[in-house]
Amino acid sequence: MAGEKSKILIIGSTGYIGKFITAASVRSGHPTFALVRDTAPSDPAKAKLLDDFNASGVTLVQGDLYDHGSLVKAIKQVDVVISTVGFLQLADQTRIIAAIKEAGNVKRFFPSEFGNDVDRGHAVEPAKSTFAIKAQIRRAIEAEGIPYIIVSSNFFAGYFLPSLGQAGEAGLPTDKVVILGDGNTKAYI
Ligand SMILES: NC(=O)c1ccc[n+]([C@@H]2O[C@H](COP(=O)([O-])OP(=O)(O)OC[C@H]3O[C@@H](n4cnc5c(N)ncnc54)[C@H](OP(=O)(O)O)[C@@H]3O)[C@@H](O)[C@H]2O)c1
Repeated sequence: MAGEKSKILIIGSTGYIGKFITAASVRSGHPTFALVRDTAPSDPAKAKLLDDFNASGVTLVQGDLYDHGSLVKAIKQVDVVISTVGFLQLADQTRIIAAIKEAGNVKRFFPSEFGNDVDRGHAVEPAKSTFAIKAQIRRAIEAEGIPYIIVSSNFFAGYFLPSLGQAGEAGLPTDKVVILGDGNTKAYI
């Protein structure tokens, strides 16, 4: 039906970016489903987030990236799958690709990207290895013929600026700052 809102599943909805995407989806009037590993987490902040999701109309679906049956079941309920899984799960998005293939109903897949355009950048480590994994997932999606959208949003100032881009630093470094390359490379945030 014209104007009907697509149903959206977010895998990784409790993460740094996932919570904003989940909130934006439901705010835009899309029937929104969030695949969550633990629907009753002991962490108060996570429990509050899930309460907020519930209150705003998000349907919580219990599942796990490593439980194929749960993925297929969740994916069969929607038109669009958005993955916002984190760094450690990026390579295992092949499991989402396999589940999308089996479900057979998905009109669009957004893999977990939300950063640099990994096919065009020339990163140095430690980013280089992560970007290579994201590129592999792009190739796997293409090979399976799944319709997709890549969101390349570049670096988030709110994420990288507080630590001046220092890997592993929680706050502003006080002693030293590692500058990659020869110091003349421009960065974009
Ligand atoms: N452009 C930028 O500046 C920038 C900054 C940060 C991130 N990013 C990118 O954004 C994407 C998301 O990163 P993030 O930092 O938001 O991730 P994150 O905070 O680590 O969140 C990971 C999410 O994946 C879920 N998850 C973990 N294991 C799972 C499993 N086995 N089954 C199902 N869900 C599982 C987590 O759920 P639980 O709550 O159950 O653990 C959580 O919701 C990545 O591609 C990252 O590279 C970009």
